Amino acid sequence: MPTSRPGIDVLLHEDRVFRPGRNFTAGANQGDPAIYGRAARDPEAFWASMARELTWSRPWKKVLEWTPPHARWFVGGRLNASVNCLDRHLGGATRNKAAIIWEGEPGDDRTLTYAQLHREVCKFANVLKGLGVAKGDRVTLYLPLIPELAIAMLACARIGAVHSVVFGGFSAESLRDRINDAKSTVLVTADGGYRRGAQVPLKRTADEALHGSPCVRHVVVVRRDNFPIDVQEGRDHWWHRLMQHASADCPAEAMDSSDMLYILYTSGTTGKPKGIVHGTGGYMVGAFATARWVFDLKPPDVYWCTADIGWVTGHSYVVYGPLANGATVFIYEGAPDWPDRGRFWELCHKHGVTIFYTAPTAIRAFMRWGIEWPAKHDLSRLRLLGSVGEPINPEAWMWYHKYIGGERCPVVDTWWQTETGMIMITPLPGITPTKPGSATRPFPGVSAEVLDDAGKVIKHGGGYLAITRPWPGMLQTIYGDDARYLQTYWSRWDNKTYFPGDGARRDRQGYFWLLGRVDDVLNVAGHRIGTMEVESALVDHPSVAEAAVVGRTHELKGQALAAFVTPKDGITVDTRLSDELKGHVVKKIGALARPDDIIFTAELPKTRSGKIMRRLLKDIAEGRTLGDMTTLADPSVIHALKQKYQEE
Ligand code: WTA
Repeated sequence: MPTSRPGIDVLLHEDRVFRPGRNFTAGANQGDPAIYGRAARDPEAFWASMARELTWSRPWKKVLEWTPPHARWFVGGRLNASVNCLDRHLGGATRNKAAIIWEGEPGDDRTLTYAQLHREVCKFANVLKGLGVAKGDRVTLYLPLIPELAIAMLACARIGAVHSVVFGGFSAESLRDRINDAKSTVLVTADGGYRRGAQVPLKRTADEALHGSPCVRHVVVVRRDNFPIDVQEGRDHWWHRLMQHASADCPAEAMDSSDMLYILYTSGTTGKPKGIVHGTGGYMVGAFATARWVFDLKPPDVYWCTADIGWVTGHSYVVYGPLANGATVFIYEGAPDWPDRGRFWELCHKHGVTIFYTAPTAIRAFMRWGIEWPAKHDLSRLRLLGSVGEPINPEAWMWYHKYIGGERCPVVDTWWQTETGMIMITPLPGITPTKPGSATRPFPGVSAEVLDDAGKVIKHGGGYLAITRPWPGMLQTIYGDDARYLQTYWSRWDNKTYFPGDGARRDRQGYFWLLGRVDDVLNVAGHRIGTMEVESALVDHPSVAEAAVVGRTHELKGQALAAFVTPKDGITVDTRLSDELKGHVVKKIGALARPDDIIFTAELPKTRSGKIMRRLLKDIAEGRTLGDMTTLADPSVIHALKQKYQEE
C-alpha cells in the first residue's frame, strides 16, 4: 500500500458551467479576456499600470526588486494609504458621496461622506500625535464593527503609524499577547459593542489584558452606548473628548512604498499567533486592483462585505480596497440572525446593496435556516455575489446563486489569505465562466500552480497549491520572526515558491479547485483525499446543511473517516439517515470515501472567523485531549460533540 503518493486524489466531478451575461460583460470594469495573456507576458508592466491609477507623492524607480524570499514593490516610490482612500476622492462628485453607511445591531445608523470621513481621520490622526504616536509606532485597535475602527486605521496610516487590529471577540489573553508582541504604546477600544442582543464589554476585557501589557501608555475609549466602564485616570481617555478640540488639518506622511502599513495576527488553532506584516505600496495596489475588477465597483454601487474589519477580509475589502476605489461601503455591526434570521436580507433591501461578499459558513447557515428568510425581502438590486474563507461546496454555491442571486448575479469565489493580502484566485465576473466550487483561475499578474511533493507541476489532478511569482499584496515577513517567515512559507520546495498550505486540483481547463488545508488531508488505504470533496458530497444530500470530515487512526486502512454532520432545520436524525448519507457519499465519489462514522451535531466548532476546526474534531475522533479553546465560537458545542461521540 503506497503511503506517500505524489499528489492528492481527485474524487468529485462538477460539470455545471455559468457564463457571464452579455450585459454584465459589456459594462464590466474588465471585460477583455486578453488581459490574462497581456499580464502574464509582462506582470511587472501590468502591476505598474494598475499602480499608476493611485496617487504617489514620488514615483517609483523600479517596479519589483526580488531577493527571494523578500520582495520590494514600487521601489523608491512614496505614497500614503489614507490619501489614496480619501483625499484623492475629494476633488469631484465623490466628495459628498457616502463612503461608509453603517448600521448597528440595535438599528442605529450613521453615514459618513468621503469629506466627513476625511475630516474624522485627520482629527484622529492629530489625536494620536497628541498622545505621542509617531511614524513606525504600533497602535492596537480592539473595537466593535463601528466606523471608528476604519477611522482609526486610516488615521494610523495617515501619520505612518502601524495598526494592529485585534478582532473584538478575542479574549483578554489573546489581546494581551498581540499587544505585547507588537509592543503597542496606544490601545483604542470601546466601552462595548452589540452581538446577538448582548452587550460585549470590550473595555473590561481590555483592562484585564492591560494588567500584563506595560508597553501601553494610553487607552482611547469610544463611547458606543454608555456601557458602564472603569476609567484609569491619566491612562484612559474618551475618544469624543479628545476629538472635540482636535484640528482637522493633518498633512499625510509620505511613506516609502515598503514601509509597514499594518500587522495582522492570524489566529491559528495552535501555537503562537503570527504577526503578518503588510507594506504600503504593493499592498495598496493589490487591494485596489482586485477590488476594482473582482467586485466590478461602480459609482452607484452599494457594496457590503460581511466580514469583520478584525480579519484580513475586512482590511482589504471593507477598508483599503473599496475606499481606494471611491466606493460606498455598507457596514453592519451585528449578527445575521438578530433579531431574526432575515436581518441580512432586510439590510440588503433597506440600504440598496448591489454587491454582497460573505463566507461559505454564513451561506451554509442561510441554507439551514431555509429560503423563506431571503424570500421575505426584495433582493433585486443585488448584481454580484462573492464568497471567501473556505472552499465553497457546490451545493452551497448553487443555493447562493439561486436564492440570493436570483440566478442573475455572477458568483465570485475568491481564494486568498491573510498572508497574500489580496485576492489571488478568482473569476473576473465579466470574463470568466464559473463552475460551482471552483475559484477558477489566478487574477491577472498572479502565477499559481499545483505541485507534487517534489515540486513537479501537476497539469491535471490534485496536489499542493503554490504561488510561483511575487505579487504586490504579499506579506513582507512575520513580525519579529523572519526565520519563521522563511520556514513557514518559503521552504516547502525552494525559496522562490510560496506555499500557502492548501491542497488544490486543476481540471482539464486549468481551473483551480481548492481542497482544504493540507494538514487536514485524509489518507485512506493509501489514497490522499481532500476534506472538501467528501464534505461536498455530504452537503449535496438534501438533509444536510454542513459537514466536516476528519480521519481517525484505523489499523487496516491507515485512516477511517469520521463525518460530523449538521442536518437542516426540521430533519429527524436516525440510523436510516446515517446509512443513507454513507450511501450518498459512495454514490457521489466512490466507496473509498465512505465515512465509517456519522456524528450528527447541531453545530460544528468554528474559529472566530468561521472556519471549521477540523483538527479539534480529529482530536475528538481520536479521543485525544482538546487543544486551545479560546478560538472556539462556542465552547459548549465541543463539549456536546465530545459527549455524543462517546455515546456512539
Ligand atoms: C481558506 C481569508 C477555498 C484557505 C481571506 C486559506 C479558501 C485560508 C478560500 C486563509 C476559498 C480562503 N476557497 N479556501 N475561496 N478563501 N480559504 O487567512 O484554506 O483567514 O489558506 O484569509 O482560508 O484564511 P485567512
